[in-house]
Amino acid sequence: MSARYQFTGSTAVAISASIESGIRTDALPPGTTLPPVRALATELGVSPATVARAYQELRQRGLLATAGRHGTRVRPRPPVAARRSALRPPPLPGARDLSRGEPDPLLLPPLGPHLAALAADAGAPVGYSHAGVLPELAEAARARLAADGVPAGELTLTGGALDGIERLLGAHLRPGDAVAVEDPGWANLLDLVAALGLRPIGVPLDDEGPLVAGVASALAAGARALVVTSRAQNPTGAAVSAARAEELRNLLADRPDLLLIEDDHAAELAGVPLHPLAGATRSWAFLRSVSKPFGPDLRLAVLVGDETTVARVAGRTRVGAGWVSTVLQRLVLALWRDPAVAELVRRAGESYDRRREGLLAALAEHGLTAHGRSGINVWLPVADETSALTALRDAGWAVAPGALYRIAAAPALRVTISSLTSTDLPDLAAALAGATRPTPPPGFAA
Ligand SMILES: Cc1ncc(COP(=O)(O)O)c(C=O)c1O
Repeated sequence: MSARYQFTGSTAVAISASIESGIRTDALPPGTTLPPVRALATELGVSPATVARAYQELRQRGLLATAGRHGTRVRPRPPVAARRSALRPPPLPGARDLSRGEPDPLLLPPLGPHLAALAADAGAPVGYSHAGVLPELAEAARARLAADGVPAGELTLTGGALDGIERLLGAHLRPGDAVAVEDPGWANLLDLVAALGLRPIGVPLDDEGPLVAGVASALAAGARALVVTSRAQNPTGAAVSAARAEELRNLLADRPDLLLIEDDHAAELAGVPLHPLAGATRSWAFLRSVSKPFGPDLRLAVLVGDETTVARVAGRTRVGAGWVSTVLQRLVLALWRDPAVAELVRRAGESYDRRREGLLAALAEHGLTAHGRSGINVWLPVADETSALTALRDAGWAVAPGALYRIAAAPALRVTISSLTSTDLPDLAAALAGATRPTPPPGFAA
C-alpha cells in the first residue's frame, strides 16, 4: 500500500508532524509505504536532508520502519493511537479467526466468585503511604517460582510482562542501544523496541530456544540486553530446553554486563518444564505474567531479579504509576490459592497441548512440517505469505502473517490454536496445505 496523502511542512518538525497526524487519522494506516525522500522533498519544495530528518525522527520513535528495498513504511503498530485499530483488517464475515494469539475465553477461570468474595471482604482502603507489593502475594509468588527452579532474588510487580520489559529496557538502555530479540519473535516486543528508539538485533532460534551462535553474534554486534521467551515462544512455540539453557548460561557467563530478560508468559500453562537462565549474568530479570493462565485483563506480572535491576524497576514505578493495585493483587492471590482454579488451569494446558499437537499431526499428514512445542500458536513456514493468506481467506480462515514477527527469518504463518476443535482439524489442515504450496524448507532461518 502506498501513501495518497497530502503531506505538508517546510521543516523537518512540520513534516514529521504531518506524517504523525496522517497515522493518527488513519490516512496513513500501518503498512503504508511513504514516498521516497527525494520525491517528497521535491513535492514539498525542501531539501532531501529535511525530509530525511523527519523520517529519521519518526523511525527513532517507532512510527516508521525502513523495509530495505521496499522503502520506508508505517510500522504495524506505531505508538500513536489511531482512531480505529488498523493493525489487521478484520476477517471476512463468517471466517474463523485464528490470527489473534488470545487464550480461549472458555478456558480461563471464572473471576466472578473471587470478585464476589473480595467485595464481601474488601478490607480497609489502601492509600498512598501503605501501597506496594502485598507480602503474602510476594511469598506465594516466590514459592511458585522456586518450585520451577528460578533462583531467589528481589521481587516486584508490573502491569504485565510487556510493561516489565519496557521498564527494564528503559532503566538500563538508552535510545540507539541494541537489544537482542528472538527472530521470529513476539510482534508486540518488536513494536516496543521500536517505540523506545532501541535497535533490535534478531537472534535465530529453533524449537529448543535461541541458537547459541545467534546470541553470540548479537552480543558481538553490541547488544546490551537479551530478551528470551522461556516457553511457548510467540510465534514458534519454542521452549528453552535443558541442554540449550546450559549452553546459553555458559555463553552469558562471559558477559556479566548484559541485561538478561526472561519472559515466562505461558507460566502454568506451558506444558513443558522451565529451564531458566536467570542469574547467569549480573543484571537479570525473570518475568512471569498471569495473562495466559488466568486472563490477559488481569495485567499483572511478577518480576524477580538482582537487587539493582529490581530496585530500578520498582523505583521507576513508584515515581510514575505508583504500584500495581492491591485489589488486583488480592484477586490474583485468591486465584492462586484456589485448588479448583489450579485444576482448571491444568486442564486448559492439556487442552491447548491437544489442540496444538492435533494440528501439527494433521499438517504432517499433508507432508507439512510446522512448529509448536508449547503454547497456543503453530508456526508454519510458507513460500509466500501474501498468497497463502489470500488462499486461506478464500477458504474461510484468517491467520496471522509471519511478517509481523520477523526481522530476517523466513516467511511463515502463525496459526493460533486456542479455539480449535478436533472437528476443525481436517478442513483447516487441508486449507493450509492448499494455501502453502509450494512447500518451503521447514526451518525458521531465511
Ligand atoms: C511472548 C509473550 N510474552 C508476554 C505475553 C503476555 O504479556 P502480558 O503479561 O503483557 O499480557 C504474550 C502474550 O501474547 C507473549 O506472547
